Amino acid sequence: MRVHVANHPLVAHKLTVLRETGTPSPTFRQLTEELVTLLAYEATREIAVEEVEITTPVATAVGTHLASPNAIVVPILRAGLGMLEGMTRLLPTAEVGFLGLQRNEETFEAVTYANRLPDDLAGRQCYVLDPMLATGGTLVAAIEYLFERGARHVTCITLLCAPEGLKAVEDAIGDRADVTIVTASIDEKLNEKGYIVPGLGDAGDRLYG
Ligand code: PRP
Repeated sequence: MRVHVANHPLVAHKLTVLRETGTPSPTFRQLTEELVTLLAYEATREIAVEEVEITTPVATAVGTHLASPNAIVVPILRAGLGMLEGMTRLLPTAEVGFLGLQRNEETFEAVTYANRLPDDLAGRQCYVLDPMLATGGTLVAAIEYLFERGARHVTCITLLCAPEGLKAVEDAIGDRADVTIVTASIDEKLNEKGYIVPGLGDAGDRLYG
């Protein structure tokens, strides 16, 4: 598993405003979208492409198109939905699948309440969107659903990660597939309630109240 932390002053600035308790929901949503677009630029660096011959008004040239089949973007409901617009702005031809997962706040187990993924993901580049990687239970479950459908190239975009969650995902995935995590920050730790410290609180609540 590869982990890429986006090291950019714009990412750092937007993330700092996002973390602040006083940032209201409309600003939080806007910043989330902007951050995702910046992270998506990093996350799509190795997306499959093919050469195409084109004609410009001046000459013929060899250019680049995104390869087929098209990528699939999977927001994890609810909070991941706040990242969808920022991602599809950059990848408008991507298909969108949905996973609904909610963490049980006592056992930290991820409970699935929705699964609308295409049946066959073999050969597809998958981008999973979820702002928080805390214990890792949610992301491991999401990646397993993608694997079941044949996906082998999975990139997860998160705003924040806890070191404990990164380790949990790495232990669960092993070397079974090509999995990359792109994030704006690896924070310090999890607290006893399973919240990321310093974190930004509950992303779902801050996005949707
Ligand atoms: C949050 C967050 C992740 C999950 C992370 O969602 O958006 O999906 O918790 O926790 P984990 O790494 O310990 O599994 P939550 O379950 O609160 O649902 P929500 O998005 O509907 O608010």
